[in-house]
Amino acid sequence: MSANDLAAIARAMVAPGKGILAADESTGTIGKRFDGINVENTEENRRAYRDMLFSTRALGDHISGVILYDETLRQKSAGGAAFVDALAKNGILPGIKVDTGAKDLPMCPGEKITEGLDNLPKRCAEYVKLGAKFAKWRAVIDIGRDMPSSTSIAANAHALARYAAICQEAGLVPIVEPEVLMDGDHSIERCEEVTEWTLNAVYEALYLHRVVLEHSVLKPSMVISGKKCVKQAPVDEVAARTVRTLKRTVPAAVAGIVFLSGGQSDEVATAHLNSMNVQFKGDLPWPLSFSYGRALQQAALKAWKGAPGNVAAAQAALAHRAKMNGLASLGRYTADQEDRAKAA
Ligand code: 13P
Repeated sequence: MSANDLAAIARAMVAPGKGILAADESTGTIGKRFDGINVENTEENRRAYRDMLFSTRALGDHISGVILYDETLRQKSAGGAAFVDALAKNGILPGIKVDTGAKDLPMCPGEKITEGLDNLPKRCAEYVKLGAKFAKWRAVIDIGRDMPSSTSIAANAHALARYAAICQEAGLVPIVEPEVLMDGDHSIERCEEVTEWTLNAVYEALYLHRVVLEHSVLKPSMVISGKKCVKQAPVDEVAARTVRTLKRTVPAAVAGIVFLSGGQSDEVATAHLNSMNVQFKGDLPWPLSFSYGRALQQAALKAWKGAPGNVAAAQAALAHRAKMNGLASLGRYTADQEDRAKAA
């Protein structure tokens, strides 16, 4: 596979039974995760943590790609190999987060616009040289009183499209990530409406910017009740509304769809994905899989706690979640597989 074979890379990212591990937390965000386990946010601790994740045995059985942060792309495993090469050896594609974060959107109090377009062609060229095969850019859409505004939807869709076009020209498959946040007390109906609006705007912008859909992967949030909403929709409803919205908005040419977990608990994120693949088996134009950050890492992070002696337990926790989500991407997950693993 050449660095520029975008169709093959996109297909490999959503290979049957596999999904993506999002490990691209910025230095600030990983610091928040480390605070929870009392680990100091140093470069060496960040390296050691990612080394633990990436050297998990047979990780490539269920993980097709890992999204890295700039610092990690340049780091090495304890054995001396660059992370990029160690991952590639395990059949895992290295990816890179290329946005520089969500900043306040002028004139739209409370809303964000993702930045990072300046110099992006140059940065992408360097990332390709370093071995990256795909990229990620996350846009954030918040639901609230008078939010989102059309301004934030249009500005974020435009930035996603500019990013995706730049990546494809540079030889990277873009993961297009418009995240409708699940914070707030909104209903699932409101989430569905905003998600449909957002995805329509995103695909209109991608068309305008000549993005090749077959060489792209969508990373959406699920259609779900706001975290603080008193009425929480059940698993099958979340799955049905999510797929209905995607079918209304995402062209069949898109190579695949990988969900973010967005603050859902590990097992709920797995159950939602599984339900989509069970309910719509044989009736989906794209593979539906995962690109979870927290929902893949939470258990491993808690088991690790920064101690070398905990590496094996932490890796077992990651391998388990990767396997459960791999099964869910095929519609073959059942909750008793969790219980059996806990009993073992
Ligand atoms: P979560 O699954 O924790 O939402 O992270 C996925 C991600 O990459 C967010 O940009």
